[in-house]
Amino acid sequence: MADKNKLQELVDAVRLNARYKSISEDLIRRVGLQELQKRANLKQAVKATRSKLHQVGGAYQESRMPYDEWREELAGLPQDAYDPAVVDFASRVMHKHASTRERFPIREEFFQRTLASICPVHSVLDLACGLNPLALSWMPLAEDAVYYACDIYENMTTFVGDFLDHCGVENHISVCDLTSETPKQEVQVAFLLKTIPCLEQMDKTIGPRLLEEINAQHLLVSFPTRSLHGKNKGMIKHYHKHFEELVDGRGWQVRSYQYFEELAFLVSK
Ligand SMILES: C[S@@+](CC[C@H](N)C(=O)[O-])C[C@H]1O[C@@H](n2cnc3c(N)ncnc32)[C@H](O)[C@@H]1O
Repeated sequence: MADKNKLQELVDAVRLNARYKSISEDLIRRVGLQELQKRANLKQAVKATRSKLHQVGGAYQESRMPYDEWREELAGLPQDAYDPAVVDFASRVMHKHASTRERFPIREEFFQRTLASICPVHSVLDLACGLNPLALSWMPLAEDAVYYACDIYENMTTFVGDFLDHCGVENHISVCDLTSETPKQEVQVAFLLKTIPCLEQMDKTIGPRLLEEINAQHLLVSFPTRSLHGKNKGMIKHYHKHFEELVDGRGWQVRSYQYFEELAFLVSK
């Protein structure tokens, strides 16, 4: 068992680098503990912890996220998600997260088609949201929709909340570590967009548990069709099969949607 002081030393060391400062402390602690158990050397454990955190989060942010500059620009824009200036702002910001950027060419068709059978949507829980809540204006949401979302980054979730506040959407955004706790919020639909493979890098058994525990009438679950480097190594076939295994025997209704950019399933519990 790694001792408490050593774990705290590791957490502090990991956070000295600006790229890891804003990540949920619980998650750093959890990854750090696993790494300290594998090796006694603190320096190596810090390096391995950063590498794992990069793999699950940092890899999607290829450059610095200028949240303060974005906030300043947003403050000068109309408070309407459908205003062309706000749509242009959201589009530019969404390009700064690799996962949101990949969905960008299909954003409207993706949300309108996958959610057609349950729209207008009154409540969303966007798990491991990245910058996806900025796609708000392309989602078939009811006027009174409430948006819940979480991710491991404190600075990103704060910004996402500021954007939704600006657009007048009731929101509850938080920092979470889905590998330690599933949010309990009851909603009409939960988004788990391209997130399961990411979480499975930390906990191979998380998929079925998460799908079961999420308190939503419907789940919009998706998978990437290529790697972050653009390679398609039979990923569509692989994730189709993987998803079927995850929902096998549940008796849930499943609709599937395939795009060049993403493979999606709407699950009705
Ligand atoms: C592939 S991206 C998907 C982002 C968003 N759902 C989308 O499709 O645009 C994976 C996201 O999971 C987040 N993440 C990684 N590990 C997590 C964890 N343990 N708990 C919550 N979020 C996590 C990352 O920060 C990143 O934003």
